[in-house]
Amino acid sequence: MTSKAKRLTVSGKSYSCEPNETVLDALLRQKVPVPYACRQQICKSCIMRSLNAPPPLEAQKTLRESLKSKNYFLACACIPERDMELALPESLSIQVTAQVNSIDYLNEDIIAILLQCASQVNYTAGQSIMLMNHDNIGKNYYITSPTSLKESGLIEVHIPLVKDGYFSEWVKSELKEGDTVSISCPIGQSFYVPSDMSQPLLLIGFDLGLSPLIGIMQDALENGHTAPIYLFHSVHKKSQLYLADDLREITEYHPNFHYVPCIENEPIVDKGFYQGQAHKVALKMFPDLTEWRAFICGQSEIVKISQKEIYLAGVTTTRYLCLR
Ligand code: FES
Repeated sequence: MTSKAKRLTVSGKSYSCEPNETVLDALLRQKVPVPYACRQQICKSCIMRSLNAPPPLEAQKTLRESLKSKNYFLACACIPERDMELALPESLSIQVTAQVNSIDYLNEDIIAILLQCASQVNYTAGQSIMLMNHDNIGKNYYITSPTSLKESGLIEVHIPLVKDGYFSEWVKSELKEGDTVSISCPIGQSFYVPSDMSQPLLLIGFDLGLSPLIGIMQDALENGHTAPIYLFHSVHKKSQLYLADDLREITEYHPNFHYVPCIENEPIVDKGFYQGQAHKVALKMFPDLTEWRAFICGQSEIVKISQKEIYLAGVTTTRYLCLR
């Protein structure tokens, strides 16, 4: 327990950190755009560096030794023991302006935004960017466009409309086609690598967790992945499914791609839908996942649970992406 407020200094500016407040919460409270997702030391998106002293050990416990020795730490787990001088990820200092090309509602809770970047951004589907408005308030979103789209300077993100979420409210009520925003450099290591084309791919998405998996799936297909690619997507109610028709259409052109929409809390009346959480349906269909490569995306709790279950079924490699 720390009983006194601490000072955080970032790029010469000073911010307060209340007793028992994490560095992440303190910076977000004072409108400093910092990427984050899981808040559980899983995704590592909130990594930053202490410049004046070693950070608390608790905030480093899931990092590699090489990062620990350079005083890197995870802001979501760091309750400062002293005043700290911080360096935010380099990716945040490099910003590119982008014009809003189109805004589309995928369902009543999710908005797809296509951005035309002023200069090419070197991204890979599955990474995330910080999207910022003119007040420098921003939020982290996964890239949903396939990597090939970067050649034309385009990048797509899906934004969930969160109740009382300042940024999504701003997007919904103020952002228009033709407006300009800023984006940070992409970060993240959970993307498709064209290594073993004969290894089956398992993509498991919960709710908005479908979005980055679409780009990852497209990357696999565009790279000529020959093994089966199964995309399981579960939502609570059927009305929450999105892009289902587009995904079904892709299965017509790519016989090795399979789309499995799953409904958790409603009875199944239509053919082609499955009952239950995405990972449970996947495990029922494929109890032995030895040799499979998996990507899981959703809220951190369900990602953790499903990761464990598919690991026990024999999956060799898992990449996970956490939503917040
Ligand atoms: S590790 Fe800090 S937000 Fe995920």
